[in-house]
Amino acid sequence: MSKILVAMEDAKITDYYAEMLERHGYSSEVISSVSDAEKRLSKEAFNAVLTDFSSQGKQLLESVVLQHPETRCIIISKKASVRDSVDAIKRGAFHYFSKSDDPKEIITTVESAVDEQAYAGLLRRKSDLSQTKKFSEIIGDSPAMMNVFRSIEKVSATDSTVLVTGESGTGKELIARAIHYNSDRHSKPLVIINCGAIPGELLESELFGHEKGAFTGAHRTRIGRFEMADGGTIFLDEIGDMSPDLQVKLLRVLQEHNFERVGSTKSVKVDVRIIAATNKNLHNSIEEGKFREDLFYRLNVIPIHVPALRERKSDISLLKDCFLKRMGGRRRQDRKRMKSFSDEAMDLMLKYNWPGNIRELENLIERMSVLVEEDVIQASDLPEKIRGDIPRERSVTQVSFDSGIGFNEAIEQYQKDLILHALNQTNWVKAKAADLLKMNRTTLVEKIKKMKLESMTVSEQQKGESGSLLSS
Ligand SMILES: Nc1ncnc2c1ncn2[C@@H]1O[C@H](COP(=O)(O)OP(=O)(O)OP(=O)(O)O)[C@@H](O)[C@H]1O
Ligand SMILES: [Mg+2]
Repeated sequence: MSKILVAMEDAKITDYYAEMLERHGYSSEVISSVSDAEKRLSKEAFNAVLTDFSSQGKQLLESVVLQHPETRCIIISKKASVRDSVDAIKRGAFHYFSKSDDPKEIITTVESAVDEQAYAGLLRRKSDLSQTKKFSEIIGDSPAMMNVFRSIEKVSATDSTVLVTGESGTGKELIARAIHYNSDRHSKPLVIINCGAIPGELLESELFGHEKGAFTGAHRTRIGRFEMADGGTIFLDEIGDMSPDLQVKLLRVLQEHNFERVGSTKSVKVDVRIIAATNKNLHNSIEEGKFREDLFYRLNVIPIHVPALRERKSDISLLKDCFLKRMGGRRRQDRKRMKSFSDEAMDLMLKYNWPGNIRELENLIERMSVLVEEDVIQASDLPEKIRGDIPRERSVTQVSFDSGIGFNEAIEQYQKDLILHALNQTNWVKAKAADLLKMNRTTLVEKIKKMKLESMTVSEQQKGESGSLLSS
């Protein structure tokens, strides 16, 4: 009998789904906390897990994906949100439902999850994955990635501070997660903070917490990310963007393992493993006086450099297969129709430079899977930049006046496409997209609002980016 684990924040909803599963012939087990769910999963294999999209649910999803890749995780969220559903799928969820969806659909999905699980078990080619088994989310069998896997394995067994470097989209966060989930700290929290996305003055209280009344708006005492991560790991992403003041404070935490909340003099001690990442060249930042050399040496105890995709093109084929499988195998009726690339298309993909690295490849495959109706993706389906490896800037000679488009509308469309392109390249992290566009973050946020970009569906966003103004 197929076994399903149900772990949600709301006990009533948990019971409702557990009973429904029982009625449909599944053996269901109800668990009230994420840590218990994780323990249960490490003792016994479940076919699928049903959870919500609360922070606890996300944590469970993450550990299912990393620790039990054979188990399918289905999210039933309180709200229906396109962004959340895309986010959930990207995190590796099998399906995302909102509470208001038809329960019958949920049962059908559980059925296909169970089916797919058997299918995936058969499909997993040993030669593909045996080397990467422990970190099965991270795909790659190039010599360069094998080195990365070896480093992950070694550092996971220690508490040493790790500095992960590499271009944007190379998988630095994935590596940080793999280290945490393969370490003894795996049942304790992994707390991720993007030091580049939070304005300097807020970052300090985010990291270290604050006392009630420490500053205007501090209505109550709040613990910071370091305290949240106690016993676990903190991932300081984009460390190269941290302000000099905070660099000093972080250095002290690294040296003494203690700090004070903003507005307090009491020292707080924590046991936290630190993993930092950056896509900047910190040696240059040190020379420019933007990054402290002493902090660099404290962080760079174990360096892991992730090579750019163009330096390990032999990984493209395996990555492509995995992403196609992920996109195509989600629904039972689609499974037989898993898409593939023609030889010519594949040649172009191998020639292309991939400035956005794996993220760009992943987004492209998602887009091709949605937009191309035929089973084989042809060279002509690929975006112009890959077909000719020429910059994607649009030439005015390509604008179709037949559609009745005028000057202002064309300019607006161009702006929209450019912003969508930057957002897709950066996984919708607005601060990063604003950086790419060399634009103020608040200006970008205003434009997104004005152009109603967030309310567009994924395929509309991608269609927009693929060039709705062009005649061809
Ligand atoms: N080796 C890989 N196998 C499978 N997926 C990967 C791999 N590397 C990266 N990805 C996927 O590519 C995307 C980008 O990865 P990630 O966020 O870890 O990159 P990053 O290096 O942190 O980028 P940035 O510097 O922009 O934050 C994610 O969706 C991730 O799942
Ligand atoms: Mg990252």
